[in-house]
Amino acid sequence: MVSRVIPVDPFDLVIFGATGDLARRKILPGLYRRYLAGQVPETSRIIGSARSEMDHAGFRDFVAEAIAEFLPKARQDGQTLQRFLEHLHYIPVDARGDGGWAELAGFVRRDVVQAFYFSVAPSLFGDIAERLHGYGVANAEARIVVEKPFGRDLDSAKALNATLALHFAESQIYRIDHYLGKETVQNLMAVRFANILFEPLWNARHVDHVQITVAETVGVGGRGAYYDKSGAMRDMVQNHMMQLLCLIAMEAPYRFDPDAVRDEKLKVIHALQPVRPEDIVRGQYRARTGVTPEPSYAEDAENPASTTESFIAMKVAIANWRWKGTPFYLRTGKKLRARASEIAIVFKEVPHSIFEDEEGWRENVLSIRLQPNEGMTLSVMIKEPGPGGMRLTEVPLDMSFAEALGEDGTDIPDAYERLIMDVIRGNQTLFMRGDEVEAAWAWTDPIIAGWEARGEKPKPYDPGSSGPEDALMLLHRDGRRWREIRE
Ligand code: BG6
Repeated sequence: MVSRVIPVDPFDLVIFGATGDLARRKILPGLYRRYLAGQVPETSRIIGSARSEMDHAGFRDFVAEAIAEFLPKARQDGQTLQRFLEHLHYIPVDARGDGGWAELAGFVRRDVVQAFYFSVAPSLFGDIAERLHGYGVANAEARIVVEKPFGRDLDSAKALNATLALHFAESQIYRIDHYLGKETVQNLMAVRFANILFEPLWNARHVDHVQITVAETVGVGGRGAYYDKSGAMRDMVQNHMMQLLCLIAMEAPYRFDPDAVRDEKLKVIHALQPVRPEDIVRGQYRARTGVTPEPSYAEDAENPASTTESFIAMKVAIANWRWKGTPFYLRTGKKLRARASEIAIVFKEVPHSIFEDEEGWRENVLSIRLQPNEGMTLSVMIKEPGPGGMRLTEVPLDMSFAEALGEDGTDIPDAYERLIMDVIRGNQTLFMRGDEVEAAWAWTDPIIAGWEARGEKPKPYDPGSSGPEDALMLLHRDGRRWREIRE
């Protein structure tokens, strides 16, 4: 199967914070991949902007290095890379002052698609938005892209939304949650809504429970200062995990249209029940000892008394007709056994077993792997082959997306590049609407406030483990078990 590339209209994309980590790791290499795929029209321009003084040539060198570092396998023959670099320009601006804005206004074209990527601290969103209009840089259809963290609680998210709304309409604001750009996450919608097979079973009558795991092996070293103020709840649950949960739990939108999809997701967030303290386990990783010692979370965060969680597991209930009685278990953490993200839909037992081999029986599980090895597996029971009576065994109906696409997986577009192209196309389906973000905080805030009021400390866990013991109990006490975390 050959993946199709749909060209986009010519654009001027301005990246504020162009010398920052996200631009270097994701945005700029991602744009190069889209260029290689033939999706970036030759008349398009990518304009880097930040406070540091640099000329166009300096920025091109910076981008060439980023591509070499983060896309080692991409085609980098001199000519292609050179042609890409010719699309790049750099104009320094002072986000809080006047410097550079008149130059930027003179440079950015007004008669092409305009996109402004705010890859900067949220405290600068308002200043930049105001200057884009004040200096006449942005045209009436300009799109702005903003990154998480989108606030740290409901009040700050509302304030950010209000600030952006002073300068841009909701239809111009693209709030990125890069999980929505992952191939498998979109496939979740395709599988649910383009097949008749699953929908009749997709409810509390047939689904015993759902598990969403996003496990990472990395710690927070290097970004401890940011992370210590957020923790797994703010960093992962309020956004990425919540989005996954919404896509699994939502009703069918009346069509695949930005507001239709986002309306359905919002209903799910509204239906989330408050979480009881006994349904949450927070953890914090210990130091690794032995031959290759590694620092503890508190050392990484440079905060010996930190009570921030680097792991969280929770049981979530959705109070609506479809899901009443089917728990959703969420789990995410740093320094766990493997980098593995999976959504598992665990189905109920058959109503009556006609076979004597009760032991061989396992429940059907639809497993959607986000990373690595993106794909889906449906486990089904069959007869164990050969003589020896009717014994049951479980086999996977396996669909790896990389194989299905006839590619080795490295050609599946990264989440960021896909989302940036959606911005240029003007398609907001995979971006969070302001009310969604606020509703997510409204659900998260009381949970965090509860920990703070009770002075709760996270439970320590060993690096390379599956998190604290108590997280296992969260399911054991319901007669269930977590799926293994493995690559
Ligand atoms: C980011 C979080 O949003 O997502 C990080 O801030 C986390 O803490 C990252 O590591 C995970 O993204 P991915 O795509 O590597 O699963």
